[in-house]
Amino acid sequence: MRIAVLNGPNLNLLGAREPELYGRATLGEIEAAVRAQATALGVECAWTQTNHEGELVEAIQRLRGTADGALVNAAAFTHTSLAVRDALLAAQVPFVEVHLSNIFAREAERRRSLLADLALGVVTGFGADSYRLALDGLVRHLAARRA
Ligand code: DQA
Repeated sequence: MRIAVLNGPNLNLLGAREPELYGRATLGEIEAAVRAQATALGVECAWTQTNHEGELVEAIQRLRGTADGALVNAAAFTHTSLAVRDALLAAQVPFVEVHLSNIFAREAERRRSLLADLALGVVTGFGADSYRLALDGLVRHLAARRA
């Protein structure tokens, strides 16, 4: 099983960026934990971070045929980007929307996701653990679908 993890803008700054909201783990540390978990689950993991909307759109377009499922933390593009939404609609690859912070407990603009209704589910508010919970849920969902 091939899982892709896509991370949007400013997530490269995790660890230093608003740690009271996002925690102290760096994106590299989160990646290492997710890769270890993927190995334990027996799945392949491809990891991407970009600060550019077009690059995120292209990474989503590439999911089709290269990934069985994805974790998507589109960061601020979650709330703004019809292009990211359209790419996810076109890719037709099951995905879990992931956020470190609880977007529903934040400013009004962040309480709206343009992606959530397309997702299998949303994991939001568990810090770095959101990725772990989302990967577990996604792999269990895909395995059950295969059985
Ligand atoms: C975020 C939440 C977004 O609102 C914000 O723009 C981010 C990170 C999160 O993981 O909590 O950059 O996606």
